[in-house]
Amino acid sequence: MADSLLISGGLVWSSSGAQRVDLIISGGLIQQVTDSPTRDFDGEVVNAHGLWVLPGVIDSQVHFREPGLEHKENLESGSLAALKGGVTTFLEMPNTSPATTSVAAIEDKLSRAEKSSYVNFGFFIGATKDNLAELIAAAKVPGCCGIKIFLGSSTGDLLLYDQEVLQQIFSQTTLPISIHSEDESRLVKRKKIRDEATSVHDHERWRDHQVAIESTRMVVDLARKCERRIHILHISTGEEIHLIKQHKDLVSCEVTPQHLTLYSPDCYDRLDTFAQMNPPIRSLQHQKVLWQGIHDRVVDVIGSDHAPHTRKEKLAGYPSSPSGMPGVQTLLGVMLHHVGAGQLSLPRLIELICEQPARHFSLNKGFLQPGYDADVVLVDPHRKAFITHKSMAYKSQWTPFDGLEYSGALDTVIVGGKVMFRGGQVVAHKAAKAITRRP
Ligand code: DOR
Repeated sequence: MADSLLISGGLVWSSSGAQRVDLIISGGLIQQVTDSPTRDFDGEVVNAHGLWVLPGVIDSQVHFREPGLEHKENLESGSLAALKGGVTTFLEMPNTSPATTSVAAIEDKLSRAEKSSYVNFGFFIGATKDNLAELIAAAKVPGCCGIKIFLGSSTGDLLLYDQEVLQQIFSQTTLPISIHSEDESRLVKRKKIRDEATSVHDHERWRDHQVAIESTRMVVDLARKCERRIHILHISTGEEIHLIKQHKDLVSCEVTPQHLTLYSPDCYDRLDTFAQMNPPIRSLQHQKVLWQGIHDRVVDVIGSDHAPHTRKEKLAGYPSSPSGMPGVQTLLGVMLHHVGAGQLSLPRLIELICEQPARHFSLNKGFLQPGYDADVVLVDPHRKAFITHKSMAYKSQWTPFDGLEYSGALDTVIVGGKVMFRGGQVVAHKAAKAITRRP
């Protein structure tokens, strides 16, 4: 068949381990997983001998800046970076300009991405104090992956911490809710620390651990009151891990490769404002508990929080510099570095970056099994790769992980059954699709 593909001879991984099986793909779906040789196959054969075959990575938190902030990134450059990092699906945040707070704005992003994206896509709708009807209506748009709430202010003007409005959203909407959890009133109260700061080291003093835990405590209580599932993004403190551990029936959470890899004060000494993000990178003590949360299954998902800003903007110096680091292209590589260092197993990583994001957002992805979308990544476990500024496809052309080495160079990326990336090159025309949520 014209669009069929055989991935042959590789080691196919999932959260349950590895199997030496072949994958037969057609119509954009995995049709068959077989351990017997396929004879007389008349489609394209991908030789995967010596390679690891993984489900395509789903990055459930990226900021691609289109519309309005395209000097930092756009859907084309961000999705190309995703492809070059083995990310076959991205879920994009609403703090663009204007913010994505209506069904019309979601539809605009979907039609832009259909033209320009290299990988599959979904978009979040942002919550405001008066767009409840849009949040409810967005559930009917298949490419809308969820609702995003900024409880504390970050990049852009989305901000919502009014408990009455939050309660209405929790009880009247059905889309998954993802939350940026920092306490705005404490941030405002302590803004003097930021305004009088002389170095980026003050960023984590201003947005301290209490900013995070107080907000998370509030929103977990509210979720409990409304019996509403919530997902808390980029957890940065040990206290939040301990709290969420008590509420796993209702609360899921994400950590980022940045919080698992960089730590203060080292990152601020080395990277200055290029390590500035919200919530901030904190001490090794906090990082240790985040890792414990990975091992104890408190953490459900690893997302990149790809939040690009230009070098020039970062070089403005603290506090004028914006918060955020790029990361969609390095998510898999940085985490393979940790796998190589023995920090976590490959099956657990696959659970965190493929299977769990798919389950959480009800996507037909994340598993290399019959009937699932054929988004597949092949890596060479014996080939070393280096992360460098120069190899980033981002418009901003920098990464906080410059110089990091790992085993598992990217060999091939297949999006929707089509080989899109091989031998370091984009080899096909874009064929990405909007996500659809399973009922
Ligand atoms: O540091 C951050 N930057 N944290 C966020 O949550 C938003 C992001 C951005 O969009 O720049």
